[in-house]
Amino acid sequence: MIDIDDLRRLLAERKPATAVILGSGLGAVADALEDPLVVNYADINGFPQTTVTGHAGQMIAGRLGASEVLCLKGRFHLYEGHRPQTIAEVVNALKDIGIRRLIVTNAAGSLNPDFAPGSLMLIKDHINFCGQNPLVGANDDRVGPRFPDMSNAYNADLRRRMLAVADKAGIALKEGVYLMVLGPNFETAAEIKAFRLLGADAVGMSTVPEVIAAVHAGLNVLGLSAITNFGTGMQKTPLSHEETIANAKKASDNLARLIINFIKENPDG
Ligand code: HPA
Repeated sequence: MIDIDDLRRLLAERKPATAVILGSGLGAVADALEDPLVVNYADINGFPQTTVTGHAGQMIAGRLGASEVLCLKGRFHLYEGHRPQTIAEVVNALKDIGIRRLIVTNAAGSLNPDFAPGSLMLIKDHINFCGQNPLVGANDDRVGPRFPDMSNAYNADLRRRMLAVADKAGIALKEGVYLMVLGPNFETAAEIKAFRLLGADAVGMSTVPEVIAAVHAGLNVLGLSAITNFGTGMQKTPLSHEETIANAKKASDNLARLIINFIKENPDG
């Protein structure tokens, strides 16, 4: 067992500036890390544990080209019963160890006929529809302001660079709006209709708490969705977690390539 301070010391030696949070079935980026150092969440005293199939619960530090990178394989969902503040604590710990750039990934359902299952979406903005917020409670002014500005939450410069990387790699990538629900049930057909009217392109059960906490902490954020299915009522077949995992695997290869190329071509956090 190690504690959070040991973890900080361990990772501080490598000085990663970029962290990548890997969603359901999207762990491939971590496999590309050179000289990997693996720490199981279960071995970190006081660290929250993941309970979802497809989420390993490991932190993996390693090199990608000229960059030291920290991958979080397995994230904390509010539907698992985690407090939203726990997610902010994890993100703040990343900032503490020197992370300046956070890449968040997720598996998501499509609300837009142009985003087919197996494709990727670059998140340009989000709608927080989960009814919770990681910043509720006393504000720590050392981390960030009480009322953080969200106008550039998904950093426009990083997005422009990611679109260029995708173009060069020949991987289709379009920007869209991500809407977060609390889950764990998939949406009703009526909800999907409503979310489309609200202007969302994809729906999922994660990412927004991390991004809010990261923006509060002053990190530069890039978000990518692997589209695993159409929203309820947009196609005939019912949704299952297995379907989500299988389609995520298809998109996972492209997602990993994009992130690896992006970090190699943009090494400074
Ligand atoms: N809805 C919510 N979350 C999801 C979906 C979905 O259709 N697919 C993958 N994650």
